[in-house]
Amino acid sequence: MVDTKTQYQKIKKEVDAAVIGVLESSQFIGGKVVNDFAANLAAYNQVKHVIPCANGTDALQISMMALGLQPGDEVITPSFTYIATVEAAAILKLQPVFVEVDKQSFCMDPIALEKAITPKTKAIIPVHLYGHAADMEKIMAIAKRHNLYVIEDNAQAIGSKYTFADGTVKKTGSIAHIGCTSFYPSKNLGAYGDGGAIFTNDDTLAEKLKMIAAHGQSKRYYHDMVGCNSRLDAVQAAILDIKLKHLDTYIDARQKAAGFYDQAFANHPKITVPFRASYGTHVFHQYTLIVEGASRDALHQYLADNGVPSMIYYPVPCHKQKMFEAFGGSSFDLPVTDWLTERVISLPIHTELDEEQQTFIISKVLEFLNK
Ligand SMILES: Cc1ncc(COP(=O)(O)O)c(C=O)c1O
Repeated sequence: MVDTKTQYQKIKKEVDAAVIGVLESSQFIGGKVVNDFAANLAAYNQVKHVIPCANGTDALQISMMALGLQPGDEVITPSFTYIATVEAAAILKLQPVFVEVDKQSFCMDPIALEKAITPKTKAIIPVHLYGHAADMEKIMAIAKRHNLYVIEDNAQAIGSKYTFADGTVKKTGSIAHIGCTSFYPSKNLGAYGDGGAIFTNDDTLAEKLKMIAAHGQSKRYYHDMVGCNSRLDAVQAAILDIKLKHLDTYIDARQKAAGFYDQAFANHPKITVPFRASYGTHVFHQYTLIVEGASRDALHQYLADNGVPSMIYYPVPCHKQKMFEAFGGSSFDLPVTDWLTERVISLPIHTELDEEQQTFIISKVLEFLNK
C-alpha cells in the first residue's frame, strides 16, 4: 500500500546526515532539533503552537486532558474512523457519542452532530478521514452556538487546505481549538518510527498541553497536574524536519496518482471515486472507492490473488467494536456508516506509485468488476 523504502532512497543523503548529526550531538530527547521541527511545522501549518508528542493517539488523549474533560462527559465523534480517535476518549472514561458521516466525504455529518448534542456534551472530534477535510465551517459554527470544544483529528490530512465561505484559507489541524496529528510511517508526513503533534492557537492551552505531555511538569521536578510521558525523540524530529520540506511535493504526487485512478474509473457503474468537497484540498492519505453491484470482499480477495494490495479501512466501525460494548456502542444506529463499512476499498496510493503500477492495479480492478 505504501513504498517508504523507495521514498527513503531519494532523500537518503539528507536523512542519514541528519540522523548522524543527532547521534553525534547525543541530544536524543528534546533540544534544538525537536524545537526547530516544531517551529517549522507551526509555520507550515499556519498555527501558533506545535507540541510534539509520542504518537497521534497520545496527542488526542493529551488534548482531552488539557480541555479538562471529566469522566462521563460526552464527546461526539464519527464511528467511521480509526479506533484511536475514540479510544483516547475511552481511556479517560469519557462517553463517546457516535454520529453519522456524510456519504460522500466520509467525514462527520454536521446535521447528525447537532442532533446528538445534549447538556452533557463537552467536545466534538471531527476526523479528516483519508485526507479529506470534514466540513469545519459548519462544525465550528455548531460548536460556537453550543459552547463546545472542537479537536480536529488531522492524523490523515496534514497539508490539506480548507477554504471558508469568506475566502479565508486555513490548514486542517489549525482550525479548531486543538488539532492532532500522527507521524506513523505510512502517514503523509511519516516518521521512521512513532511520533505525533498537537496544534493550537491558544497560548493558555498550549502551556497546558506542553505540561501534560511532560508529566504535568511546570518546571523541572514540579508537577502541577497529572500528565503523562509523551515525547517525540530527536532522531524522529530530524527525519520529519527533512520530510516536511518535501510534504507538498508528496501531496502533489498523491493527488496526481488519485487523478489517474479517477480517470480510469470515471463513470463506471459499480464504482464511486473519492469525492472532493469544494471547500478543501484532498491530500489522499488513502484512495478509497465505494463498490456497488459487486462484492467488495470478493474484489479485495481477487486483487490479493493477483498480487495487488488493497485494504478495507475499516472493516468494523467503532460503535460495533467489542471495546465499546461497555460504552453502549451497539445502541447507536448508524446506517450510513454500516453501508460504507461494507462497500469501501482502498487502493495503493503513495508518493512512489508510477503509471505502470497504477495501470496494472486498474486493470485488475476492472477485470473483476467487468466480469
Ligand atoms: C484518524 C487517526 N487518528 C489517530 C491515529 C493515531 O495515530 P498513532 O498511530 O500515531 O497513535 C491514526 C493513525 O494511526 C489515525 O489514522
